[in-house]
Amino acid sequence: MDTYLFLTSILVLIVSSIFYNLLKNKPSRNGLRSYPILGNLPDFIKNKNRFLQWTTEILSATTPTHTVILRVPSQPDQILTSNPLNVEYVLNTNCRNYPKGDLFHFILKDLLGDGIFNSDGEQWHSQRKIACFELNKRSLRSFVMKIVEFEILQRLIPVVNAAVEKRTILNLQDVLQRFAFDNICKVAFDFDPETLSEDGISQCIPSNFMTAFDDSANLIMNRLLEPAVFIWRVKRFLNIGKERQLKESMKVVNDFAYDIIRNRKSNQHASSSHSNDDLLSRFAEKEDRTEQFLRDVILNFVTAGRETTSSALTWFFWLLSSNPDVEFKILEEIKFIKTQKQNHTYGNSGILFDFDQLREMNYLHAAISESLRLTHLFISTHKQL
Ligand code: HEM
Repeated sequence: MDTYLFLTSILVLIVSSIFYNLLKNKPSRNGLRSYPILGNLPDFIKNKNRFLQWTTEILSATTPTHTVILRVPSQPDQILTSNPLNVEYVLNTNCRNYPKGDLFHFILKDLLGDGIFNSDGEQWHSQRKIACFELNKRSLRSFVMKIVEFEILQRLIPVVNAAVEKRTILNLQDVLQRFAFDNICKVAFDFDPETLSEDGISQCIPSNFMTAFDDSANLIMNRLLEPAVFIWRVKRFLNIGKERQLKESMKVVNDFAYDIIRNRKSNQHASSSHSNDDLLSRFAEKEDRTEQFLRDVILNFVTAGRETTSSALTWFFWLLSSNPDVEFKILEEIKFIKTQKQNHTYGNSGILFDFDQLREMNYLHAAISESLRLTHLFISTHKQL
């Protein structure tokens, strides 16, 4: 009986201490609350839908280290840092000691497979070597210039002109997302999804692939916000909720990617309309490439070039709209280079510039670099200790 009474008192003490701490727990100076057993779980759940804003607030308030440890039961501890010295050390100086790791590989595998963004060691190194080699080739640059020129002249400018003529308001971010998506699909696998139409924004239809790709990327990222890894794994096993949606959108994405690869393979020896200049052809040069490998290449490059390019452009134009003096100087530089090389034009249009002319636009380059520095569009990355 005595033992029973003793154990009950201990239990009551523990439970009341937890409740006391839950109610009375004061946040530390940076706003992060820590509870016995639960760690930071209550705050994590409360801020799940504003994770970036929440962690930014905490890291800004954690002076001078700008580094905190996030403890959520059933998850490995996470060290969050926005300290430039730490970022430099982890991503650059000492990057070999910080792989992406098994956990993130497992979480992101459905979308990114074993592609460059989701692999470590030899698997990453061999893809990195091909990517660096190919991305620096002159032939790829002129292929990219041709595609971007077409997209600007035949799609982007007509859409903007139509909006000016009809005096309608354009959602620039949406237009630039479509612009970037069409460009990266053409560069990656020579397919034009035509999400930006020549006839104005009202005619633009997002392709199934684009919608499914966006959904898949968002749903996969959502896994990172589950309080425990087993939650999304159980949902996946039961095929319910967001995991069911992910499975459906991934089916559209995978079917699309495998169709492209099979068509490409069957046309490889026949005379085909595509140029062999796209990234898929460059990665497929070796005969032993599996369909799975090529699917990973396609989806990793779409991931690399889509959101980054459109966000960079959107922020750039947004900043430009409130800095007319910078806009003026950019236009002056463009006019100067145009008059200097009047007879030297690129492409069929004679309107755009060639690669060497673009290189001379030092002020424009500086303005874009400053916009990238100010807007931090590549928000976060994960490494494993
Ligand atoms: C403004 C546009 C872009 C920005 C700001 C940007 C930024 C970045 C950053 C910060 C990383 C490092 C990611 C990490 O370590 O976790 C990265 C990686 C990469 N980016 Fe970009 N990127 C842009 C456009 C592109 C485009 C258009 C392509 C391809 C066509 C591309 C291809 C890659 C590849 C292949 C990697 C992986 C490198 C590796 O893991 O070794 N990026 N990018």
